[in-house]
Amino acid sequence: MTDNRTWVNPLRDVQDKRLPRIAGPSGMVIFGVTGDLARRKLLPAIYDLANRGLLPAGFTLIGYGRRSWSKREFEDYVYEAVSGGARTKMREHVWERLAEGMHFVEGNFDDEGFDRLSAMLAEMDVTRGTGGNWAYYLSVPPDYFSDVCHQLERSGMAEAEGDSWRRVIIEKPFGHDQETARELNQLVNAVFPEESVFRIDHYLGKETVQNILALRFANQLFDPLWSAHYVDHVQITMAEDIGLGGRAGYYDGIGAARDVMQNHLIQLLALVAMEEPVSFSPTELQAEKVKVLRATRPSYPLSTTTARGQYTAGWQGSHHVKGLREEEGFDPESTTETFAACTLEINSRRWAGVPFYLRTGKRLGRRVTEIALVFKEAPHQPFGEGQTRALGQNAVVIRIQPDEGVLMRFGSKVPGSTMEVRDVNMDFSYSEAFTEASPEAYERLILDALLDESSLFPTNEEVELSWAILDPILEYWADHGRPEDYAAGTWGPISADRMLERDGRTWRRP
Ligand code: BG6
Repeated sequence: MTDNRTWVNPLRDVQDKRLPRIAGPSGMVIFGVTGDLARRKLLPAIYDLANRGLLPAGFTLIGYGRRSWSKREFEDYVYEAVSGGARTKMREHVWERLAEGMHFVEGNFDDEGFDRLSAMLAEMDVTRGTGGNWAYYLSVPPDYFSDVCHQLERSGMAEAEGDSWRRVIIEKPFGHDQETARELNQLVNAVFPEESVFRIDHYLGKETVQNILALRFANQLFDPLWSAHYVDHVQITMAEDIGLGGRAGYYDGIGAARDVMQNHLIQLLALVAMEEPVSFSPTELQAEKVKVLRATRPSYPLSTTTARGQYTAGWQGSHHVKGLREEEGFDPESTTETFAACTLEINSRRWAGVPFYLRTGKRLGRRVTEIALVFKEAPHQPFGEGQTRALGQNAVVIRIQPDEGVLMRFGSKVPGSTMEVRDVNMDFSYSEAFTEASPEAYERLILDALLDESSLFPTNEEVELSWAILDPILEYWADHGRPEDYAAGTWGPISADRMLERDGRTWRRP
């Protein structure tokens, strides 16, 4: 694979104010612009980018869909989405400039609609100076990818002329397993070369996720400890308190493992476990991720190294909430898991023998995403009996959200005349250490796609490899009845606790 992209260091860019990262002349077409993702995330992110001065003056936003909206109606729709979701202030002149470049093209997947769209792009290239540079955001279910890609190709919109570019941005789910992911990749790559395909994993757009790279590779402090010599095990937790009301169409039949483990959690594992890349260029970074993913596989037997559950009615704080099977739109017999946990191992010199425990769930105790490296006990404790009763294992915890930061847990003497050692926490908090606000993940990723910086986008190979890790677990579950019930507001099914207890360990209670 050749790397002919602009070499950009994603870490330096975040911090170096001398390098304003402003997108060049370009526009974006959003397919599925009336959907939930576009309304809640994409449109507000585009406004925030404009407001921060990071979009070109002639930036053009085209919505494509079945409605027969006028330009004005589309503007009103975008305005409402932006007012509800933008993180920066509404500024009249920024809005007006952005709105000037907004258009809506009515159509479905037929030739006429795409011909109209093609004519619109050509017109915009002349009137708005978009220079033939277009990003197509496929915010539609993957079943439609084929139609959209085919039509983009047929109408000549997939191909760029001269120095201009055409890129496609796609959202998960990237398939249902390795085989379907491969088919989907082939389908997209038949129209767009891999370097023009930007797969969104919004976790990679989060500042704290990028901070994993800073923490590991900008410091001398952590690396010597970052291996099986000192690390006992790693816990990656993505817990959510929200339920799935309103998401049945997408979620029923998909489940927690496919929804977030295949992408967000396995990406976190890759960043935590990979070797230092030669540089942060996309090729080098992705090569290291691929290497570690190739070495990762589930621990066996799956009957004891995995757990899955489905929430039943319970209490979330002071609110009584429904169980999944009572949620609107879900099959009352649904066997979709809302909690998934697994044990992975990495067959490499650095990680041999260190279990990586991954868990994720809806309607858990609270919303938290974190990675905890839990260290082995000191080989010798020169303390008297009872003096280290309150001493646990040392840990480095990377808190992705909320309360973004890094926590170190170690033992310290309790003040007093006796030698008693107890766990204490040393806590670095982003919000206290920096005054700069972090951009929202979608802002970062949309800007990167416009700038052709693909470091933060998983490649087709990464996607297929993460399915290869998960497929045996999914197949095992498919053959073994329904998930275990857990009450909403708890920390998941009992089998998840047993999974660690069997190894003499416990989950952190974040
Ligand atoms: C999405 C999943 O990718 O991530 C959702 O489809 C999940 O089910 C969401 O709720 C969580 O994202 P965040 O950024 O709120 O942690």
